[in-house]
Amino acid sequence: MIKAIMIGSGARGIGVYGAYALIHPDEISFIAVADPDPVRRGYFASMHGIELSMQFQDAVTILSHPKMADACFICTQDHHHVEPALQAMKLGYHLFLEKPMAIHPLECIQLGRASIQHNVHFMIGHVLRYTSFFQTIKRLLDEGSIGELMTIQHNENVSFWHHAHSYVRGNWRNEAISSPMLLAKSCHDLDLLIWFVGSHPTSISSFGELSYFTPNHAPSGAPAFCMEGCPIEKTCPYFAPRVYTNAPDWMRLAVSNDLSNESMLSSIQKGPYGRCVFHSDNDVVDHQVLILEFPKGVTASFTMTAFTHENTRTIKLMGSTGEIRGHMEKGIVELYLFGRDEVISIQTNQGSSGHGGGDEGIMKAYIELLNQEPTSGIHQVNGAISAHLTAFAAEISRHEKKTVLYEDYVKQVMDSGRTNS
Ligand SMILES: NC(=O)c1ccc[n+]([C@@H]2O[C@H](COP(=O)([O-])OP(=O)(O)OC[C@H]3O[C@@H](n4cnc5c(N)ncnc54)[C@H](O)[C@@H]3O)[C@@H](O)[C@H]2O)c1
Repeated sequence: MIKAIMIGSGARGIGVYGAYALIHPDEISFIAVADPDPVRRGYFASMHGIELSMQFQDAVTILSHPKMADACFICTQDHHHVEPALQAMKLGYHLFLEKPMAIHPLECIQLGRASIQHNVHFMIGHVLRYTSFFQTIKRLLDEGSIGELMTIQHNENVSFWHHAHSYVRGNWRNEAISSPMLLAKSCHDLDLLIWFVGSHPTSISSFGELSYFTPNHAPSGAPAFCMEGCPIEKTCPYFAPRVYTNAPDWMRLAVSNDLSNESMLSSIQKGPYGRCVFHSDNDVVDHQVLILEFPKGVTASFTMTAFTHENTRTIKLMGSTGEIRGHMEKGIVELYLFGRDEVISIQTNQGSSGHGGGDEGIMKAYIELLNQEPTSGIHQVNGAISAHLTAFAAEISRHEKKTVLYEDYVKQVMDSGRTNS
């Protein structure tokens, strides 16, 4: 039985990791919570039976106390991961940190080193590795089902509605308040590619931009907020009153702690989630591609795009003797062997939790990890750090229109640390 503290009782803290503890009270329990939002803090505390003296105002306050549990979950927003993470590890907590682990490359390396220095378990919220869907693909690769891996095509189909919610109106719309979209959204896709190939990439190129969700695409007469009398409200797929009165709870929670339709409508009148998607202060890309070279000539392409009707991941892995195709939302993995007519179709278990079962899978894996030696999860941490560094390198490639060599880039990052210290 693991005792844990929760820092940041928002959508992930309440809805994923907190929810797991409520379903599996024999495996893990949260005994303290920190969040400056009194409603969210109080809700989490009441769900987990946390007494008032164990409810804290924020990360700094809870971490000014001596260690009070085995593990610390940090589920604050992207900008607010590193300081509490370092402090928690210093206090001796095993750490679960939401992705992206940090928004600066050097900090990713520093976090990895701190976990070794303090001899604590450290896991980053790269939930996709823990889905039955991606684990099936990894097993097929490791069994040699498609021979030697040659090429991967991986797509993150963000979908028009999810993109508008999170990356035009929401928390991850603007780099200054969050991080580049590739880092925020797809560090765990890059983690998958690294996991499949068994190595970080050697060379990285990337292209992409914000093309569509911009003022020059606004329909004539579209006001700043949907509820100010938009001429195309009947047909616009982004018309906020329709979107948020029909939205699932995780989307509503971003808008308001009160999930009722009345609260949705009053919050979006002049709030960020009621903005016209063509008149927001978003600056993150709406489509981006990466071309990656790995050791032994393995190549990969990755596309992250708003412009899909489905919100899912689709993947194709091509080897010397066969091909694997997968559709995450459907949970289907297909194996094609060259020279044979039949297709082996595997229906993977999607589970009931988010991210195709990955939200539950990662909690199970983390709890198992805590029963092992702290170094046993190091491959996950190293893969996660490489994935983050790949995202930062891709951003340099995209902005500077050049191919970035991974090893050179990492050396530069390390040298910048030596210069700063
Ligand atoms: N692993 C995944 O698949 C996945 C999916 C979505 C989001 N995320 C990441 O998870 C993190 C949390 O996302 P979310 O959607 O739950 O965000 P959220 O905004 O719903 O929750 C963050 C919470 O942190 C609280 N907070 C702010 N400052 C704090 C402080 N100083 N101390 C303690 N708490 C503080 C906020 O009040 C809020 O309740 C983000 O980094 C996000 O990018 C990961």
